[in-house]
Amino acid sequence: MRPHESIPGRYADDAGKRQFVRDLFNRGAPHYDRIGQVGFFGTGHLHRRRALERAGLRPGMDALDVACGTGAVTRAMLEVQAGKGRVCGVDPSEGMLAEARKSVAAEFHVGHAESLPFPDQNFDFLAMGYALRHVADLKRAFAEYHRVLRPGGRLLILEISRPQTRLGLVLSRLYFRDLLPGISWLITGSRDARLMMSYYWETIDACVPPQTILEAIHGAGFQAVSRQVEVGIFSAYAGQKPVEPGTQKP
Ligand SMILES: C[S@@+](CC[C@H](N)C(=O)[O-])C[C@H]1O[C@@H](n2cnc3c(N)ncnc32)[C@H](O)[C@@H]1O
Repeated sequence: MRPHESIPGRYADDAGKRQFVRDLFNRGAPHYDRIGQVGFFGTGHLHRRRALERAGLRPGMDALDVACGTGAVTRAMLEVQAGKGRVCGVDPSEGMLAEARKSVAAEFHVGHAESLPFPDQNFDFLAMGYALRHVADLKRAFAEYHRVLRPGGRLLILEISRPQTRLGLVLSRLYFRDLLPGISWLITGSRDARLMMSYYWETIDACVPPQTILEAIHGAGFQAVSRQVEVGIFSAYAGQKPVEPGTQKP
């Protein structure tokens, strides 16, 4: 199940999307953190950290950040873990990982959400921040999340959702579609940064509705599946892998 159909003028098929997205983030990587700071008014770190805590991340858990990019969620995981427990990040973009390695002291791996480079039942907590739109297949990604989590393991997916109200949609289009790409160009001087942020809104606008995402998470075998929304657009999807007696981490 695709998170969205092909974006006109960007690529024609799944292989084209994978290549386009990898190039997009490799080229945009040096600018990503600056755009995050300015474009989201410095709120991103606290938002990610609070979401991790609400979803049940605790010191001592082994945590995986899928689509870690420059390490925004990974950094917040390390703070919550306070040195107790393993923290790993995985991302297909070498450019984004190079930025992450400059400032985040975690274990980083190259890989895709749909085929994670980890054995079964390897983590207690898995998060993905603002990258669900980029996977090729939601069901495959959620099946992988279920596979690498231990019984009882927690899932958190942060994503921007297309607003449900008319006013919300008008305001979001004004900011994310009409202003943010230009602001990104101005503050970085980079056309790659502008393209990265144009594509950002294009995929939010085209993305399948939240109910479809909730059903896919449930369909992959997660229980207590929920969605919390802030400001009408910031979605936090959560779920838990069922506990099977006798297979809990000691
Ligand atoms: C918008 S960035 C999000 C970075 C970070 N998680 C955050 O919260 O800021 C999206 C990331 O998804 C990664 N990505 C793209 N396709 C992916 C895939 N199929 N599996 C995992 N990550 C992917 C990109 O390389 C990029 O680093």
